[in-house]
Amino acid sequence: MYFAKAGNQQETFSACIHAVLLKDSQSTMIPSPLADYMEFIPDWDAYVSHLRLSLPVYFRINTLKASREVVFSTLDSEGIRPEATAVKDLFKLGATGQARATVSYHLGYIYPQALSSALPVIALAPRPGEMVLDLCAAPGGKATHMAQVMGDSGIIIANDRKLGRLTALLSNVKRLGITNTVVTHYRGEHFPVTRSFDRVLVDAPCSGDGKFRLGKDDEILHLKKGRTFLPAIQKALIQRAFDLLRPGGTMVYSTCTLNPQENEEVVSHLLKKRDGRLLSWVPPIDWEPGLTTFKGRGYHESCVLCRRFYPHKIDSVGFFVAKIFRPI
Ligand SMILES: C[S@@+](CC[C@H](N)C(=O)[O-])C[C@H]1O[C@@H](n2cnc3c(N)ncnc32)[C@H](O)[C@@H]1O
Repeated sequence: MYFAKAGNQQETFSACIHAVLLKDSQSTMIPSPLADYMEFIPDWDAYVSHLRLSLPVYFRINTLKASREVVFSTLDSEGIRPEATAVKDLFKLGATGQARATVSYHLGYIYPQALSSALPVIALAPRPGEMVLDLCAAPGGKATHMAQVMGDSGIIIANDRKLGRLTALLSNVKRLGITNTVVTHYRGEHFPVTRSFDRVLVDAPCSGDGKFRLGKDDEILHLKKGRTFLPAIQKALIQRAFDLLRPGGTMVYSTCTLNPQENEEVVSHLLKKRDGRLLSWVPPIDWEPGLTTFKGRGYHESCVLCRRFYPHKIDSVGFFVAKIFRPI
């Protein structure tokens, strides 16, 4: 349950989300916060039906270590025949696939990830030789994808606040054979380095409701424990990321929540505080424009340039991506 004081930012949350139950058009009880999203999610009934299915498993081929041919023949010997997707190097294993149980995983040939997790890297488009900061990097899905896109050249600083998650990040960097990545341990909002970066990624901590599924009584599955609704931290992270960007540089702010208060509101906050500009980009999978209003709150008009991804439209985790430019 959360308590929001109208007109200010003081919001307190308990570990679990209170089930404010609303009726959907299928006459089932859909818990909050998902019920709130009926205001903007297209094909609501299809969305609710999709949440009752298991999330399919995808993986990325680590082209730094293996070609598609090598990965496919290794998986084939284990009886696995993946399906192609619209995203380069991303393949679908199916709903019951176990990517971590394969030889290819242990050899560092593949990285299991959601299809939507490729989107921030596609939007940021880091180039070989660049200096890139990943402010919230663990366990490293996007940092290792960026290393791959950069051909393991340039420098990636992969930072995370949580020491325990840095172990997974380091192990992934090592398993995938990456050498251009330095791992740091700071609160992103106080990241101390004073030099500027060509590109910065903020894949922010969030309530994660893009991952939610519904159980047999339509209860929410995959609910995160702890304090996960974090607009104040998200606003501090996006602002620090922008300040670490060189003039002419590009950043991406992404989350796996559909909550506008953690998305468009955070982006609007940055645009109020700094001279940033949202950039348009064309995702390779189905998307919807960002919102300019939600529950009577207005957001920056250029938020239509943000990209929203809905689970039932992309057959993966719901996602949000904003691409921002720092003018020279
Ligand atoms: C969505 S996850 C990042 C996933 C990662 N980008 C990937 O692709 O594997 C958000 C991360 O932010 C980290 N985090 C939370 N608060 C933070 C802060 N204040 N500064 C930096 N990292 C933070 C969490 O530990 C978590 O690993």
